[in-house]
Amino acid sequence: MIIVRTVAEMQGLSRRWRREGKRVGFVPTMGFLHDGHLSLVRLARDESDVSAVSIFVNPTQFGPSEDLAQYPRDFLRDEALCRGEGVDCVFYPAPEEMYASDFSTWVEEGVLSKPLCGQARPTHFRGVTTVVTKLFNAVLPDVAVFGRKDAQQALVIERMVRDLNVPVRIIVGDIIRESDGLAMSSRNKYLSVDERQRALSIRAGLLAASRLYDGGEKTAEVLRLAVLGSIEEQGGKVDYVELVSRAQLAALPQVSEPAVIAVAAFFGKTRLIDNCYLG
Ligand code: PAF
Repeated sequence: MIIVRTVAEMQGLSRRWRREGKRVGFVPTMGFLHDGHLSLVRLARDESDVSAVSIFVNPTQFGPSEDLAQYPRDFLRDEALCRGEGVDCVFYPAPEEMYASDFSTWVEEGVLSKPLCGQARPTHFRGVTTVVTKLFNAVLPDVAVFGRKDAQQALVIERMVRDLNVPVRIIVGDIIRESDGLAMSSRNKYLSVDERQRALSIRAGLLAASRLYDGGEKTAEVLRLAVLGSIEEQGGKVDYVELVSRAQLAALPQVSEPAVIAVAAFFGKTRLIDNCYLG
C-alpha cells in the first residue's frame, strides 16, 4: 500500500493505473475510520481494479464554531485498517497541499444543499463539494463511494457530478450500525456513556416511524412526531426532523413518493445525524 502526500504524485499514480487499463475506485474520508468506512472500501474494491482512500479533515466544511481542531485523528490506525482491507493507496495530503493560502474558487450546489443540514451549517456543503471536486481531480477515480448516513451529502454529490459532467460513477453504500443500532460515525467517540445510551433514541424513533408507515400511516407530521418524541424524551436537542422527498429533499405533507426521514440531534455537544427511507 502506497501513502501519497501530494496531488501531483497522486495524479501520476492514477494516470499510470489508467494507462494499465485499471479502473480506479475511491473512498473519500476524513479519517478516524470505522466499519462504516470499511464497508465503503469493500464496495469500491468490488467495483474497481485498484482502490484509493483519502484521509483529509477538510477545514472548509467546518463552520467557525465547529469541531475542526478537536475532530478525531489517528493516521496510524487508519493506515493499518486500510492495509487490512487491501487498499492500494492512501492519499493523505496536508491542509497546505490542498488549499493555497489565497485559495478563492468554490464549487457550490444551489438547491439540495440548502435544507436540512444546510440550514444550521450554511457553508458546510460548499466545503464538501469543493473538496470532493479537488479530491476527484487528484485521485482521478472511475468510481467513488459515499455512505447513506450522510444522505443529503450523497444527493448533493450526485447532483454536482451530473450538473458538471464529472466523469465519476457515484455509488452510495448502506448505513452501517453498531450492534445496538447507533449509526456508525467518527463523532460517536465524543459521546459520554450516558449520552451514547440516550442517543439510541434516534434509531428507536426512526424505527417507530417506519413501523407506523408500514402499518399504513402516510401523514408526514405523525411520522415526524414519532421521531421527535423519541429523541426529546431522552433529552436530545433536535436540530431537525424532516420528512422530505428523496429526489429533491422537498418537504412532503404525505409520503406520496420515495421519501426519507432525516434527523440531526445533539446529545451533549455532539451533533449526530441519521435517516431512514420510506416508500
Ligand atoms: O463524508 C465525509 O467524511 C466528508 O464529508 C468527505 C466526503 C470526505 C469530504 O470531506
